[in-house]
Amino acid sequence: MNKLICNDVCKSFRIGEDNLNVLNNINLTIEQNDTVAITGVSGAGKSSLLQILAGLDKPSSGNIFLNDKDFSLLSNNALSKIRLENFGFVYQFHHLLDDLSVEENIFMPLMLKNTFNSSNKIIAKDLMKTLDIYKRKDHLPWKLSGGEKQRAALARAIINNPMFLFLDEPTGNLDIENSNNIQNLIFEISKKYGVALITATHDNEFIKLFDRVYRLENSKLNICNE
Ligand SMILES: Nc1ncnc2c1ncn2[C@@H]1O[C@H](COP(=O)(O)OP(=O)(O)O)[C@@H](O)[C@H]1O
Ligand SMILES: [Mg+2]
Repeated sequence: MNKLICNDVCKSFRIGEDNLNVLNNINLTIEQNDTVAITGVSGAGKSSLLQILAGLDKPSSGNIFLNDKDFSLLSNNALSKIRLENFGFVYQFHHLLDDLSVEENIFMPLMLKNTFNSSNKIIAKDLMKTLDIYKRKDHLPWKLSGGEKQRAALARAIINNPMFLFLDEPTGNLDIENSNNIQNLIFEISKKYGVALITATHDNEFIKLFDRVYRLENSKLNICNE
């Protein structure tokens, strides 16, 4: 069973003379197929924690392990490779590349991984159909609605068949209908592809869907349900 382990992680930012302590001795283990929500008010440190767990930022102290691999001992290249092979990331704002079509955006991680081939094209088609964006595949992102853009970003995050999917307020920018639709799709995809979810959100309906819910408060992570 694959495990992502966060061991005694602290994070502080230096702002002028001051040290802003955002994360204080955070411990968390996420196994494959786990679904974990992280709540907390704006500024609580949710995005900072997700970035550190996903190897996109470094903790001030403490360690992140994927199985026996300690991120702090890896070169940037080795860490990038681990991210590409094991992690997907969805942001509040889709971050699709403006000049590429929906389909080309979704293919991008395959190109980076050098695994773009005909069988992957079939998987991409299946994924686009599941997410109801197949008819939009040749369009540039600006022609899409907010919900469609977010569904395309979800397809791009999952195309490499990651073990862990990070979502940073994935529905924070959508109306209720699109938000409910994406929330259900996230869980459908998690089950279908066997991917763990680590989601920052302050949507009280959304958090009910997760196995484990944590709250970040005063730089500490506390479990809310078990
Ligand atoms: N790169 C940075 N430099 C300085 N302060 C930062 C940086 N990133 C985040 N912060 C601060 O850390 C705190 C937590 O931010 P963040 O993790 O984005 O919280 P959340 O996602 O819960 O809203 C905030 O006070 C924010 O201003
Ligand atoms: Mg945030």
